[in-house]
Amino acid sequence: MTPEDYITREGKYGAHNYHPLPVVLERGEGIYVWDVEGKRYMDFLSGYSALGQGHCHPKIIRALKEQADKLTLVSRAFHADVLGEYMEFACRFFGYDKLLPMNTGAEAVETALKLCRRWGYRVKGIAPEKAKIVVCSENFHGRTIAIISMSTDPSSYADFGPYTPGFVKIRYNHAEDLEEALRDPDVAGFLLEPIQGEAGVVVPDDGYLTRCYNLCKEKNVLFIADEVQTGIGRTGKLLACDYENIHPDILILGKALSGGVLPVSAVLANDEIMLTIAPGEHGSTYGGNPLAAKVAIAALEVMRDEHLAENAFAMGQLFREEMRKVDHPMVELVRGKGLLNAVVIHPKGGKTAWDVCLALKENGLIAKPTHEHIIRFTPPLVINREQMLEAIDIIRKTISTF
Ligand SMILES: Cc1ncc(COP(=O)(O)O)c(C=O)c1O
Repeated sequence: MTPEDYITREGKYGAHNYHPLPVVLERGEGIYVWDVEGKRYMDFLSGYSALGQGHCHPKIIRALKEQADKLTLVSRAFHADVLGEYMEFACRFFGYDKLLPMNTGAEAVETALKLCRRWGYRVKGIAPEKAKIVVCSENFHGRTIAIISMSTDPSSYADFGPYTPGFVKIRYNHAEDLEEALRDPDVAGFLLEPIQGEAGVVVPDDGYLTRCYNLCKEKNVLFIADEVQTGIGRTGKLLACDYENIHPDILILGKALSGGVLPVSAVLANDEIMLTIAPGEHGSTYGGNPLAAKVAIAALEVMRDEHLAENAFAMGQLFREEMRKVDHPMVELVRGKGLLNAVVIHPKGGKTAWDVCLALKENGLIAKPTHEHIIRFTPPLVINREQMLEAIDIIRKTISTF
């Protein structure tokens, strides 16, 4: 089969809810992937940041295989020997009393919303059905009905209504908007991404998180951080909130929690919040399955033992420094933190970010545009200096051909 055959078959039988770059991959290792014709690429998307530990990290794959031979699923109807081990490990790792295991990022966000509302009624004392959660414009938290009800992006929400009520939308990076919104005593929580990933890697001003956190504390409102994309080393710290020493009341994790091996997500919180949900009130058949438990422990160990956050910090600085030296009319802006970076592309001669990505692919580096004029560059955190310099060279030379 040719690459075109694979693409045609996928398009014929699969829903058209994505518009992939025309490359058909069959193997991955570290920062590299190979297509069905044997051509090698540097992966600068990393499964939308899920592959922080790189493709098929041997330690994570070993954990997966060893557990797969023993026990894969019990459902939460029974106990599994490895679940408590994972929960204890992750709670100590991130500094929380308890963890609630889910699978996808969107499910974990839904879980956080439910926990927040529950806490609002049962602990804060908000009147029934009145609880509100404040969210930010240009957010991305996933694709479920409740989550798209929080969205300000028509491509996420248009013609999927009616929408879930109870969300108040304010501008991102404007703490004064939060101050105003928190005058309402029915607000139970404030949900945000510490850096907005899908919006195009929008980094808020220094001090924004602290101001928001302090406002929440003043008004007895939960500060909920969606670190599905920013968490686990991606931005150069274990969590993006660590840049301002903020410990969120509810922490949402996904993606790199499994190193790109399985859908594994989690919500972490202390007892006052977590114990508002009782048996039978929330769950998931696969959430916290033994495979996920062992894979997540291995993924976090790799992140810690290989100092991936520190590496992301250093490699990210190198990337931005070098990319800011590129003198070309299409390179409008380079921004990011750690290895969560974006280049804003100024269209030239009818050529857009998509065309740049197609040309990058030809030159052996794959990345994906977000919002038409932005290219996100998020390689695995295991990338070394030599590889990063090679990647920068590919990007520089590719752009110079436009
Ligand atoms: C910040 C954030 N939250 C939630 C999600 C949703 O995760 P999932 O696609 O696993 O449902 C994403 C996905 O990109 C994300 O970036």
